[in-house]
Amino acid sequence: MQTAYLNGTLLPLAEARVPAMDRGFLFGDGAYEVIPVYSRRPFRLPEHLHRLRHTLDGIRLANPLDDAEWTRLIGEIIARNDGEDQSVYLQITRGADGKRNHAFPAHVTPTVFIMSEPLVTPPPEQRDTGIAAVSAPDVRWLRCDLKTTSLLANCLLRQLAVDTGCVETILFRDGFMTEGAASNIFAVKAGVLLAPPKNHLMLPGITYDVVLELAAAHRLACEVRDVAEAEARAADELWMTSSTKEVLPITLLDGRAIGTGTPGAVFRQMYAWYQDFKQTVMRGGG
Ligand code: PDD
Repeated sequence: MQTAYLNGTLLPLAEARVPAMDRGFLFGDGAYEVIPVYSRRPFRLPEHLHRLRHTLDGIRLANPLDDAEWTRLIGEIIARNDGEDQSVYLQITRGADGKRNHAFPAHVTPTVFIMSEPLVTPPPEQRDTGIAAVSAPDVRWLRCDLKTTSLLANCLLRQLAVDTGCVETILFRDGFMTEGAASNIFAVKAGVLLAPPKNHLMLPGITYDVVLELAAAHRLACEVRDVAEAEARAADELWMTSSTKEVLPITLLDGRAIGTGTPGAVFRQMYAWYQDFKQTVMRGGG
């Protein structure tokens, strides 16, 4: 049985209920985070809480809890759910007013929800042979740096991948690569790692940071800059990264091979660094 937290109460997830007038339900008016947990330790919790604050500030919603309280509640959820490795999901919505009105209600209590799911890492064959991706225009709004629960565009874009037998959809806006439907995307050209810069067009991924830190620590040449669509398509390697997918090689884009059509040497190196980092630092709570 999964245990969740809802508005001050710990309860079985299956029994968690929110009112139909909640603005999260009516408008997707909320913020969320997904925090990977290794050996029962939340990975980079302060960084996730910092990104949560950035989202809440961006949508003008006061943080209902301080970091110490978030840390305590997340620890409680981890302790009460099965599995050494978990994926903690938290969401805050602007709450339920009696009326449906686009503008914010004057006084309303936010809804706070936390749950945990098993952390399922990708199947080994995705790492060994790579995954297929499809591309699409990035039709989302211009605040993709905010992790809001208004995810319909991302859902449609990810569904496009599923419908075409792919794992992810790579998004291009105005001739440049932004990110994936639910991941960040890196390219490799001539041994140099290329990363789109953090700005309002992409989510500042925690895994993105880890990959850039590992690249710097191991002196892998790296350029954080805009990546043109043509460059991405002609790259030697493409990778997707997220808290739940870790780092995966993309070997096919729109039915065409990326590089040799097999996971590249730089990916294999990064994967090894990442796994080592996971065993030594993430499992140690770093
Ligand atoms: N999504 N970009 C988008 C649009 C994302 O939805 C995600 C993650 C990322 C990667 O961020 P991170 O490395 O911090 O997981 C980038 C999560 C996993 C989700 O919505 O379930």
